[in-house]
Amino acid sequence: MDPAMPAGARMLAASAGVARMVSPWILACSFLLCSSSFLGSEGAIGVNYGMLGNNLPSPAQVISMYKAKKIGYVRLFHPDTAVLAALRDSGIGVVLGTYNEDLARLASDSSFAASWVGSYVQPFAGAVQFRYINAGNEVIPGEAAPNVLPAMRNLEAALKSAGIRVPVTTAVATSVLGVSYPPSQGAFSEAASPYMAPIVTYLASKGAPLLVNVYPYFAYAADAERVQLGYALLSQSGAAASVTDGGLVYTNMFDAIVDAAYAAVEKAGAQGLELVVSETGWPSGGGGVGATLENASSYNNNLVRHVGGGAGTPRRPGKPVETYLFAMFNENQKPEGVEQHFGLFQPDMSEVYHVDFGSSS
Ligand SMILES: *[C@@H]1O[C@H](CO)[C@@H](O)[C@H](O)[C@H]1NC(C)=O
Repeated sequence: MDPAMPAGARMLAASAGVARMVSPWILACSFLLCSSSFLGSEGAIGVNYGMLGNNLPSPAQVISMYKAKKIGYVRLFHPDTAVLAALRDSGIGVVLGTYNEDLARLASDSSFAASWVGSYVQPFAGAVQFRYINAGNEVIPGEAAPNVLPAMRNLEAALKSAGIRVPVTTAVATSVLGVSYPPSQGAFSEAASPYMAPIVTYLASKGAPLLVNVYPYFAYAADAERVQLGYALLSQSGAAASVTDGGLVYTNMFDAIVDAAYAAVEKAGAQGLELVVSETGWPSGGGGVGATLENASSYNNNLVRHVGGGAGTPRRPGKPVETYLFAMFNENQKPEGVEQHFGLFQPDMSEVYHVDFGSSS
């Protein structure tokens, strides 16, 4: 999550929709070509394991919690050999990120990329179920943006020569979107487009997904006067605030943001690209608008039911959205305010509020 993201970029709020055609993707999707996308009727749900706290449990304790709570997927913001060791033979799917600070060297120095793979992937391959490796988190647009695609290429080449098949990608914030409403009009911003266009075509050619961090909370908090709380929280009452975009009806902001990102990706020429929601969440405290225990509990439980049900989004009906909640713990070394209150658990391992991961299967 990027606290510096301008409120404008987070503005994905509801207003009147415009007429548009049914998604051309649906029309173009032949039974044979798309049938694999519809296998499995449930969306995978994971939780980000952020470590910006000086009072968090040991990696072994944390991975035991994932198992006990039946959380089948984890995202790590940076490589950590103690955590990766704890994940051995756990069966938990792992998204592994690089440090943003390493992007320049990963981009320019293929031997550094090879040693990165040699240190963090190769020793664990086979015993750890790597799902994706993401080169950088929320660096587009920005100074490090030109390094993302070269870093992805170097990491992929290093994995290939090590004989390891893990898709390589990057994680972006919705600030890559210049237009996000209505969803069908989603498009990358002028600042992001020169980097995003080649990245999404590259990912589509490799069959790798793009990771996107999706926060209805910030859009709501930036404009609580106009955005209906139920629409942001994916609650039943959100249906009253539903938005029609051409032939598609949106009853919650999560789907609207994901579909805006799908529209942007398609406009950039990457028709078949899949999106994975690498972060989403709602703070339970910290003084922000709507940041209460009850609202956070509603958002995350509604989300787990929605995503776990595998309905997909209006633009991609029946295509489950693999989604990672942010985050496992309240982290006391994040910036003060809501940023310290996104956790599902306290550092002492007690629940902040209950999320039923069993309901996703
Ligand atoms: C959710 O947030 C709104 C503020 O936006 C607040 O008025 C409401 O009381 C909160 N609901 C609960 C149940 O905490």
